[in-house]
Amino acid sequence: MRSLVIDTDTASDDAVALMMALRHPDVRVEAITVVAGNVGLDQAVQNALYVADLCGRREIPVHAGATRPLLADLLTSRGVHGRDGMGDIGLPVRGRSPADGHAVDVLIDTFLARPGEIDLVTLGPLTNVALAFSRAPELVAAIRHCYIMGGTGAGHGNVTPLAEFNFWVDPEAAAIVVRADMPKTIIGWDIAVTSTVFGPEDAARLRAIGTPYAEVAVDCQAVLDGYAVDTGLAGFDLPDPVAMAVALDPSIAEGVDVHVGVLTGDGPARGVQSTDWRHTSGQAPNAHVVRQVPRERFMDALLIGLS
Ligand code: RIB
Ligand code: CA
Repeated sequence: MRSLVIDTDTASDDAVALMMALRHPDVRVEAITVVAGNVGLDQAVQNALYVADLCGRREIPVHAGATRPLLADLLTSRGVHGRDGMGDIGLPVRGRSPADGHAVDVLIDTFLARPGEIDLVTLGPLTNVALAFSRAPELVAAIRHCYIMGGTGAGHGNVTPLAEFNFWVDPEAAAIVVRADMPKTIIGWDIAVTSTVFGPEDAARLRAIGTPYAEVAVDCQAVLDGYAVDTGLAGFDLPDPVAMAVALDPSIAEGVDVHVGVLTGDGPARGVQSTDWRHTSGQAPNAHVVRQVPRERFMDALLIGLS
């Protein structure tokens, strides 16, 4: 049985990734820690609580974390996921109570209690994780493997031409976490673009699975149709679910070990993933960057999670 902690800025694609983990028979989700990103913290917490409830997993503790990035002001992606982050389709994403304990404290306590036994999957800005590393540097060595949805991989940005949202929202936090000396796998937005785009026909087939999970998973992507027009994609994409699929079964991905950094500040380089693909920097690789996930392998993982 694998143990995971999931850090998320819960919106429509995070929700599908949470369903995949919460419903996986061989995975125990120890805790869900929430960070502001796609939407404000309170809404992200409610969205995570809703998904846990939908999956019949109300016993999984959901903890509220950082309300804003380390330095930058919070800039959400409500234009992409809707005001409630879940497609504004009227889901009951309100009125639930998170568990006691701040997410940063829970990250520290959970991993230090079982060093080397638990994996961390991050689906949003890395503010909570960076704060935890600052509070308890020994946490870095306690994480068995960190799977990060973030960065552009070998592709381009989605919030600026060069930067991906999770790294861009809190570039200082991303720089701290990517620099941390722990085993890490980074699944960038390029993988979402190449392996997870759902046009209307594929979306209908997914929804036709007929479970509440499949119906919500597709319906809450509603606002993304407009975003797809902006990005030129043939439909909605699922970056967090493909990162979760890799975390659940790393064998579905091909990648390379390279040195990765994240550029900080508030200029055009904000949140840019700097990747030493040709190993010319003299810096040892610090991350496994995924270069390919066959769509059919992702679809297999998704169908298991939603059936
Ligand atoms: O760039 C994609 C990432 O930003 C995903 O995690 C999505 O949920 C948003 O947080
Ligand atoms: Ca996310």
